[in-house]
Amino acid sequence: MKNIDAKGHVTGKSIYVDDIPTINGTLYGVIFDSPLAHGHIESVDYSKALTLPGVITILTHEDIPGENQIGGIIPDEELFASKDVHFAGQPIALIIAESNQIGFEARKLIDINILEKEVIVDPREAQKKDQLILPPRTFELGDTENSWEKCAHIFEGQADSNGQEHLYIETQGAYAIPLENGHIRISSSTQGPTAVQRITARVLNMGMNKIEVDVVRLGGGFGGKEDQATPWAVMAALGVQILNKPVKVILSRMDDMRLTGKRHPYSSDYKIGFSKDLKIMAYETTFFQNAGAAADLSPAVMERTLFHATNSYFIPNVKATAYSCKTNLPPNTAFRGFGGPQGMFVIESALAHAAQELGVSAYQLQKNNLLKNGNEFPYGQIADGVELTKIWSEMESKFDIEAVEKEINYFNSSNTDIKKGFSLMPVTFGISFTKTPMNQARALVHIYTDGSVGVSTGAVEMGQGVNTKMLQITAQVFSLDPKRVRLESTNTTRVANTSPSAASSTADLNGKALHQACSALLERLKNCAADHFGAQSKDIEIKSETIYCQGERTDIRWNDLVLMAFLKRICLTENGHYATPRINFNMEKEKGHPFAYHVYGLALTEITVDCIRGTSQFDSVKIVHDFGKTMNPSVDFGQIEGGLVQGIGWMTMEEISYNDKGQLLSNSLSTYKVPDIYSVPKDVIIEPLKTEGNDMAILKSKAVGEPPLMYGIGAYFAIENAVRAFNPNFNSTFDAPFTHEKILMGLYEISESERVDS
Ligand code: MOS
Repeated sequence: MKNIDAKGHVTGKSIYVDDIPTINGTLYGVIFDSPLAHGHIESVDYSKALTLPGVITILTHEDIPGENQIGGIIPDEELFASKDVHFAGQPIALIIAESNQIGFEARKLIDINILEKEVIVDPREAQKKDQLILPPRTFELGDTENSWEKCAHIFEGQADSNGQEHLYIETQGAYAIPLENGHIRISSSTQGPTAVQRITARVLNMGMNKIEVDVVRLGGGFGGKEDQATPWAVMAALGVQILNKPVKVILSRMDDMRLTGKRHPYSSDYKIGFSKDLKIMAYETTFFQNAGAAADLSPAVMERTLFHATNSYFIPNVKATAYSCKTNLPPNTAFRGFGGPQGMFVIESALAHAAQELGVSAYQLQKNNLLKNGNEFPYGQIADGVELTKIWSEMESKFDIEAVEKEINYFNSSNTDIKKGFSLMPVTFGISFTKTPMNQARALVHIYTDGSVGVSTGAVEMGQGVNTKMLQITAQVFSLDPKRVRLESTNTTRVANTSPSAASSTADLNGKALHQACSALLERLKNCAADHFGAQSKDIEIKSETIYCQGERTDIRWNDLVLMAFLKRICLTENGHYATPRINFNMEKEKGHPFAYHVYGLALTEITVDCIRGTSQFDSVKIVHDFGKTMNPSVDFGQIEGGLVQGIGWMTMEEISYNDKGQLLSNSLSTYKVPDIYSVPKDVIIEPLKTEGNDMAILKSKAVGEPPLMYGIGAYFAIENAVRAFNPNFNSTFDAPFTHEKILMGLYEISESERVDS
């Protein structure tokens, strides 16, 4: 089945927030934000802006009837800065005008006086000055302290990865309209409708029941709209509350890039020790997460880094510590992988470093240390259903890694100006929200008397195809033509108290709730048919909208049965609820069983580097991926391709740049380069692993949202491999992204001794 949104997207008919027909009298909000990254607001003069024709009002912290507080995990973030500003781009006021254009003009007329304070942009500096979002956390297994002396080889170093702009095609935005009795409906481009509802209620001092949040779909989220879709929605709702007029707030691209947080940059230390036979004996790592100026989701992201610190390897002695460092940047936030990729980059750097010094291929170290069933993760979960060994042999049998290596060596020995490189990137990614209570979902199903079906869940469609999967589940359980099923918008009045669509868990959680609701309705209909035929419900089957009794086809069709049930006053509506069984985590002990299951995979990346220009081109990426039993290959393959290219972008070209005053330099698409069609590997081959799948996954179809992003990490090490083929003196610094500039520098870098000699 094709993605049900495909046609709407390619014909431009899909509706996003800014496409919703506006109501007469709609006003537009433009955000006035801090020009400086840290300081005390001495004075703001709005008088000139207020006299501009078409400006209705300017809302500040003084207009807030409830709490001026939007922090989700930790209450440390104001909606509008009241006294101090902590990052450039921090909202101070909302200009409400008759058009966006007038709002932008008015913004230029505001005078602000800020007493500048010291700006910190570096996480290690923040940690030294004790600027932490929360106390550090450590995950430990075995005893690293006493392991080092038993190691035959020990390597230490530093590995840094930069941030990443989400660059969802649809920028942040919301449209709020007044309903009667002071109630408000918000159309929001959010991954978390309940978060928008809850925070709006808090700021506006209203009951959550008076605020309805509706989401049709998002033009991309990638984590950037998990928490950070909220402020604009709250601002629009505040405008509605005060003016009793519809208010729309849509960020321009440059505002969006300047005001919102991104993937967390990390700076990390590692120390890794091996036995004589190259088993990893001990691993110690310290992560310095650049959280930005407020907590946002940083504590949870930091936790997921710790969970993925050892990636796909079993290490008997591990100590991983993480600091969430408070800096004067926009609060960094969720981004596909949610801290996992940052953790994996460090262990892969450690392995690449070791391989280099030991004179072996990195993939030999990787293969030699793969996680197996029964191994303990540093957080206490015992690995089961591990597919890594099988995936590795599948890769070897399909693509012959050693032959690839030989060919590349041969190519490199016969070419001087062009070099090739390759890498292997295994991925082990835990599926579930690490905060156990978030692993729940609900679905509401109506069967109408004509036999058509309406489905609401807490899942937000953001291009990942979750609505298509929900539709498939419904059609499959009822054995219905999918055309009879409609996926409704995600709305807090139909499905309440939802978790955000995040953590790759949306299809699993909502799909299982939906499966339950549909199954309950089906059972009711079967009982009704059984009554009619004087049989038992187990005798009844529904196949392709036809009712079978004791294996015999009857002349009762699906819609006849539905109408029959209605006339017998049987309820044709059902609410399903699902909570992931078994999972738990004890934060005091830092041990538990936080994940329902893991997703596994392996990518083989081949690259060609032009050693005169420093440019690179990906020849191929071959992936063996554990889909479980995929329920929609075209949607899932799309997720793999998109994730891979997004990961390659993070590792090779996307270069977020702030100056030491905390000003974003890469503030538009002319200075921030993202992958385009030319950056995509010439060949992307995806081999689904033949496997039974996992019962914790919906219809045994494993989560596919985040894991493939981490295949992109292989890009970094493939480039490194090629650069070293040209310049054996290249001293890898492990600081992603590996941009063309860095490639060029690396190709012609000379060793310390040569430098002294010359
Ligand atoms: Mo996702 S990065 O868990 O919104």
